[in-house]
Amino acid sequence: MKEQLEALKLEALKELESVNDSKTLNDFRVKYLGKKGPLTEILRGMGKLSNEERPVIGQVANEVRSAIGNAIQSKQDEISRKELENRLKEETIDITLPGRKPTQGAIHPLNKVIQDIEDIFVGMGYTVEEGPEVEKDYYNFEALNLPKDHPARDMQDTFYITEEFLMRTHTSPVQIRTMEAKKGEVPIKIICPGRVYRRDDDDATHSHAFTQIEGLVIDKNVRMSDLKGTLLQFVQEMYGKDTQIRLRPSFFPFTEPSAEVDITCANCKGDGCRICKQTGWIEILGSGMVHPRVLEMAGYDPNEYSGFAFGMGVERIAMLKYGIDDIRHFFTNDLRFLNQFVRI
Ligand code: PHE
Repeated sequence: MKEQLEALKLEALKELESVNDSKTLNDFRVKYLGKKGPLTEILRGMGKLSNEERPVIGQVANEVRSAIGNAIQSKQDEISRKELENRLKEETIDITLPGRKPTQGAIHPLNKVIQDIEDIFVGMGYTVEEGPEVEKDYYNFEALNLPKDHPARDMQDTFYITEEFLMRTHTSPVQIRTMEAKKGEVPIKIICPGRVYRRDDDDATHSHAFTQIEGLVIDKNVRMSDLKGTLLQFVQEMYGKDTQIRLRPSFFPFTEPSAEVDITCANCKGDGCRICKQTGWIEILGSGMVHPRVLEMAGYDPNEYSGFAFGMGVERIAMLKYGIDDIRHFFTNDLRFLNQFVRI
């Protein structure tokens, strides 16, 4: 029995040499030291031994058990160390790898131009007002001297929601809302940026939704020359000091007199080219002196107060400034277009 035990020990230690991972080691432990293992088997047979033999064999059996146990323990330590080493090797961070650059957003060119225009007018003492895009017929038309069935309503094809509500066709209703809120107080010096809607077919120069900026000044003794000086200051800050303006007589129901404003073509400096259709001038906005009826309806006495107003399409202003040839670029979000404006 003693030889049997010694042989078992040798066999076990030999087999252990080829064990290299935790799982096989565990199987090994069960095989040799488990309940169904050979050692347990041998120890079970101890009852048959004589009283002299039993303690001797018992001692040998214990030695074999602890020899195998110790060997398992040191194997376990060795495997754990190796496994840790491997993990550390696998998980090392290669700090020489080039990093992934986070993509950075940028302000949309349209918003940038709105901000630039706001800055110019804020510099002249204006404040910024906003109004709703879903508007009452009253503010969009009636209070602007465009009663129902007025033929000039056809100048702006309208998306109606109900008889009374519509998508605003211009930012001019914000003029009326501001005058009403001011309750006859002066001065009023505001600009109103915002989105407007018209039943237009979309093409390179038309969009059913676009952006306008409205301007309104109401005070005592406001004159046409104030309008002209203000707009000249604006276009020179926007397009450069050598830009000139020209006012052409026009018609809007809410201004009298009314004028379309042209600027000298930035491309040919007035000589005539494809962009200005050989005229040397480019139309950029509509304007005029606030109509006495509009003042009156909004609670301002036209004998005491006067004012001017103007409205411009922001996409058009931006297209002229940056040489953009299609208004749809502003809305289709093609990054090849947008990325050109990251640093303007
Ligand atoms: N609201 C006019 C338009 O959309 C522009 C305008 C504004 C004209 C203010 C005169 C005064 O066409």
